[in-house]
Amino acid sequence: MSVSDFWQQLAQEHARSLESHGFDQVKRHQALRYFTWQWRWRSLRQSEQMRFLLSHSSPGDLLRSAFAPIELSDEAWEGVSWTRADRWLYAYATRLLWQYARKHDAAGVIALPEPTLGTPLPVRLEGRLISQDLANSALEVDFLVRALAGAPIRSVLEVGAGYGRTAYVILSLFPDVTYTIVDIEPAISISRWYLTQLFPAARLRFVRPDEIATIEPVDLALSISSLQEITHAQLEEYLTLFDRVAAWVYLKQWIAWYNPVDRITMRFDDYPIPGSWQLAARGVAPVQTKFVQAVWRTHKDSIDSSAGVRR
Ligand SMILES: C[S@@+](CC[C@H](N)C(=O)[O-])C[C@H]1O[C@@H](n2cnc3c(N)ncnc32)[C@H](O)[C@@H]1O
Repeated sequence: MSVSDFWQQLAQEHARSLESHGFDQVKRHQALRYFTWQWRWRSLRQSEQMRFLLSHSSPGDLLRSAFAPIELSDEAWEGVSWTRADRWLYAYATRLLWQYARKHDAAGVIALPEPTLGTPLPVRLEGRLISQDLANSALEVDFLVRALAGAPIRSVLEVGAGYGRTAYVILSLFPDVTYTIVDIEPAISISRWYLTQLFPAARLRFVRPDEIATIEPVDLALSISSLQEITHAQLEEYLTLFDRVAAWVYLKQWIAWYNPVDRITMRFDDYPIPGSWQLAARGVAPVQTKFVQAVWRTHKDSIDSSAGVRR
């Protein structure tokens, strides 16, 4: 499977950045092109995320986010060349997101610690390190567990995992789960570096796109903000893979996104979803309202992991 021109360029940039800053700074570099959003005063008016957060925050949340102490020094924000005003805005938005997410967190994601591995940005609230990535994962897992309605999940496959924020949350919440990641370099080396320091290697598998034929059946396949950046042919291959191996599928992707390098527009509604999949839940994502998320039950049964075969 070839990589889209868009990701070939970005992967080269990420590899160079990895050489200069090392793995230990991934949450301040590569993550900002995975799913950690930067907030800038100059582009704030166009931010649908900020509009959502302001209109879904109580006066208490707005005040707490603005007035709780915020560390803005160059030392604390080492490696991030933003103005102090943009650092403040980032912390403010992250706190709003955090307070929104903790009201929509059926699975208890917000109680997990943000690992200091990868040097997260120094945003704190009520005495603890908080992060956009944990808050966004709380909202995603909330949607997912409601749609699964108690279906047992013991094995997960993720395509395009970034540094591994979703894997961290799912592996922490569900200690029996094993997790397979399909990704390209350097992300696959980054998620391997991150996750193998946090979980036993036996729970993890890392697979390159040209090895997907070796992937065995799983209970759940998922992909977040990755499918719009690949080609139509790759999208079809991954959906065929999900159809072959997964009992449930969760996708969260841009409703429509123009890839300026490959010059293609990917629309969620045009994805070639197999006709046999049964939609369990679908909706515009909270906060990132230009994204849609959906869960399907495929035509397969879950894995009976005690027997190692399908029921
Ligand atoms: C925007 S990031 C999203 C990361 C992660 N899902 C998250 O939400 O934090 C896109 C991810 O897709 C991966 N990717 C790009 N092309 C790919 C391909 N052909 N096959 C698998 N993964 C790919 C990138 O390496 C990256 O990990």
